Amino acid sequence: MKTNDLTMRPITGCEELDLFSQLPYVLNEELADDLATGRRRPEWMWVALRGDRLLARAAWWSRPAGDGPLILDVVDIEDSASGSDHVDIGVRLLQTAMAATLPNGSRPPEYSRFVPPDWRENAVTRLTVENRMAVLERTGARLLVERLRLEWRPESPVPEPSRRLVFRPVHDGEELVALMASVLDGTLDAHGRESAPEAAVRHYEDELARYTSPRDWWRIATLPHGEPVGFVIPARNDYNPIIAYIAVLPSHRGNGYIDDILAEGTRVLAEQHVPRVRASTDLGNIPMANAFQRAGYINFERQINMTWS
Ligand SMILES: CC(C)(COP(=O)(O)OP(=O)(O)OC[C@H]1O[C@@H](n2cnc3c(N)ncnc32)[C@H](O)[C@@H]1OP(=O)(O)O)[C@@H](O)C(=O)NCCC(=O)NCCS
Repeated sequence: MKTNDLTMRPITGCEELDLFSQLPYVLNEELADDLATGRRRPEWMWVALRGDRLLARAAWWSRPAGDGPLILDVVDIEDSASGSDHVDIGVRLLQTAMAATLPNGSRPPEYSRFVPPDWRENAVTRLTVENRMAVLERTGARLLVERLRLEWRPESPVPEPSRRLVFRPVHDGEELVALMASVLDGTLDAHGRESAPEAAVRHYEDELARYTSPRDWWRIATLPHGEPVGFVIPARNDYNPIIAYIAVLPSHRGNGYIDDILAEGTRVLAEQHVPRVRASTDLGNIPMANAFQRAGYINFERQINMTWS
């Protein structure tokens, strides 16, 4: 599509990754592998060009062999361009790409953007993030939540085993789903809070059950006589070892059990000699953020999530 000497089109394939990567972002280094493994498709990777200069880009991510785009995780504009012109170009590109890529009338996939932890304090990063959010807002998206991205490294001490809780494997998916459902009662997590009671099943089936890492890493924490207190799901996703999910059951909150359970989850992964453990939690989930900090996790980035209603 060509308007005012601006060309908007998807890339042709991996041979155009250099062109697509003219705008900087932490995900650039993953694009080649994502394309090779089917987590991205050229027709989901859109560029706005003037001549051979990249002015804006947008791209979706999915699971390999997934049906359609799952997350809109690249929306960039040339920040050095003058005036508000670059935001306008971003909006036009995103609208064009969405119309061509997403099923008519469907709710667009969530937008996710990694940003520096102190992005609001620095004028340059603040403008970079706010310009992208402006592009999203002008296509109808609204901020859902800001999240902390956390990382534990093997140089940090491995947290001590709990003296008051016992850990055992998860019997089956049903047991875990039942515990997950009881956790949603009173969660501080924005994604959880928004969901229906079936959210536990959906979360389990869409995410946890799909990890190919061993299920015997999963742990249920109990009191010595066997009553469940919480659980932790250490796993490996396509990129990193992660704490995929962790929780304390509502009736056991406020006793600091989260420290014991996070220690166990971290130790399960540390025993695999992983180079790092990644995790994330909502900025507003202060008890969880504090627990990660106590366990030696560093907040290396934040994440902005925006959604269309
Ligand atoms: C976040 C969570 C793991 C904290 O677990 P926890 O073992 O209760 O943590 P703590 O004992 O450190 O308590 C944290 C705070 O919760 C609050 N709290 C105390 N009793 C509570 C209760 N009965 N119910 C809820 N919150 C309580 C207190 O403010 C406490 O802070 P304090 O240190 O000033 O006392 C737990 O609330 C939870 O499972 N939430 C839902 C799932 C979730 O958010 N998981 C993280 C996804 S990344």
